[in-house]
Amino acid sequence: MTNSIGSIALITGANKGIGLEAARALGSAGITVLLGSRSPERGEKAVSELTADGIDARFVHLDVTDEASIREAAGGLDRLDILVNNAGIAPAEASVLPSATPLAALRHTYETNVFGVVAVTNAMLPLLRRSPAGRIVNVSSELGSLTLLTDPESPFFPFNLLAYNSSKTALNGITIAYAKELADTPIKVNAANPGYCATDLNAHTGPRSAAQGAAEIVRLATLAADGPTGTFTGGSNDQLGAPLPW
Ligand SMILES: NC(=O)c1ccc[n+]([C@@H]2O[C@H](COP(=O)([O-])OP(=O)(O)OC[C@H]3O[C@@H](n4cnc5c(N)ncnc54)[C@H](OP(=O)(O)O)[C@@H]3O)[C@@H](O)[C@H]2O)c1
Repeated sequence: MTNSIGSIALITGANKGIGLEAARALGSAGITVLLGSRSPERGEKAVSELTADGIDARFVHLDVTDEASIREAAGGLDRLDILVNNAGIAPAEASVLPSATPLAALRHTYETNVFGVVAVTNAMLPLLRRSPAGRIVNVSSELGSLTLLTDPESPFFPFNLLAYNSSKTALNGITIAYAKELADTPIKVNAANPGYCATDLNAHTGPRSAAQGAAEIVRLATLAADGPTGTFTGGSNDQLGAPLPW
């Protein structure tokens, strides 16, 4: 783990679920956490919860689909070491057969899970470039793995969610692209898979806790200088750093 004292992390969609638990864990490690939330009310409530636990947490108003909100969030920061692109959606109207997926639902999913990540990353990159140890963690999914989705033996094979799955596949591609561009900088860009966690995203059907899911995010957010970049790791077996097939 890098020396976390003095580090500042921004986590998008951190008012609940895996993002909130990532914020809690990073904050418990002595990192100042900027808790991104599109809702001031939900964001401030989550900040109060973390602050009560002695964590240095601050609310940042951030809707990853709103360029003005992203610009304002970036403009309000003078330092950033860690960016966790966690905000994500799996709308019910997009969780149907591929041929029945409304184009609007596909666009909605991509606005958050794909374009939002690129917009936030580009807005925060000038700050991350000034950090001695910039880290970007994109919160992906096993459902973004083309290898697992095409393996009939894989438990993920039956989940044929056109919008969500392909958005996470795109996110994996985006992770590789940024890792390549930033390869000659200290910034590391990696994709974390939390595994199947009980959150609002899946009506709490996952067998893992959000805190378990956050562990891989925290590992990648605090990689040492000799740590990897351009990787896709984590999973449902609690083996931190276990590589996943693209
Ligand atoms: N749960 C799992 O099993 C699982 C597995 C693999 C990957 N993931 C990924 O993990 C990440 C977190 O998901 P989760 O399970 O913790 O779901 P969650 O509990 O539903 O949390 C999602 C978070 O994203 C926020 N969000 C949604 N749209 C946003 C936007 N436009 N701008 C800013 N924030 C936005 C939500 O805010 P609101 O409260 O305002 O809606 C919420 O804070 C997602 O990227 C998801 O794809 C989850």
